Amino acid sequence: MLRIENVTKGFGGLVAVDDISLRLDNTGITGLIGPNGSGKTTLFHMITGFYRVDHGLIYFGDKLISRLKPHNISRIGLVRTFQQTRVLPFLSTLDNLLSAAPDQAGERLSSVFFRPAVVRREENESRERAMEILELVSLTSMSDQLAGMLSFGQQKLLEIGRVLMARPKMILLDEPTAGINPTLIRQLVEIIRGLKKRGIQIFLIEHNMPLVAEICEKIFVMDSGRLIFSGIPSEARRDARVIEAYLGREDRAS
Ligand SMILES: Nc1ncnc2c1ncn2[C@@H]1O[C@H](COP(=O)(O)OP(=O)(O)O)[C@@H](O)[C@H]1O
Ligand SMILES: [Mg+2]
Repeated sequence: MLRIENVTKGFGGLVAVDDISLRLDNTGITGLIGPNGSGKTTLFHMITGFYRVDHGLIYFGDKLISRLKPHNISRIGLVRTFQQTRVLPFLSTLDNLLSAAPDQAGERLSSVFFRPAVVRREENESRERAMEILELVSLTSMSDQLAGMLSFGQQKLLEIGRVLMARPKMILLDEPTAGINPTLIRQLVEIIRGLKKRGIQIFLIEHNMPLVAEICEKIFVMDSGRLIFSGIPSEARRDARVIEAYLGREDRAS
């Protein structure tokens, strides 16, 4: 479904992503791990069109996406969340979802005047969809709250809700559990499993190893821009290169 071929990205003299090739074939939940600075977020930025690749090709299904803009990539069903949340703090939780609905006829000025029935129908559909998503991300009781009043963890759930408005086939999550409390982490796990049940592929960057081992069917490990492992989590724990990558980081840090 997602195919990355020999992708490279440098910043000045630093090669952040170094000739990475990998593919995700309807795995369900796939993890991407690696020490800080190993290039995980940069890879996600390239997959979703926020950074251009220096070299290499990225396909989603049979479509070449490595030269597309982010909104064109999300339109074909590949969406992502950010390490920093991007909710709109002065809109209600519900309106945050409605404002994330793609391709609304109401946003095209001519249709406001000439096709009001279409606009009304789309708005009703968006509202129904938003209510379903609120349920899915456990925020129904917060629908009228200003998003800025939600806890940090709830804002992260809302951000997932926002990208779900686009009816994605695959969702990329960059450290979804970072900074959120254990109760919300359990909620998030249930939400991620709920997405999988609905046939949405999940690709997540995650530092919480027990969580990775619990929910990921497959993982990729990066170190210094390179792919050093792909396989099941329990094998990664016994892999010499993976162990060295993590121990090496501790050595450097101390
Ligand atoms: N926009 C940028 N400009 C310069 N260097 C960057 C930029 N983005 C990332 N880097 C560098 O690229 C490397 C990989 O970063 P990143 O992809 O954020 O790693 P990770 O997400 O695995 O922690 C790091 O050394 C980081 O400092
Ligand atoms: Mg990162």
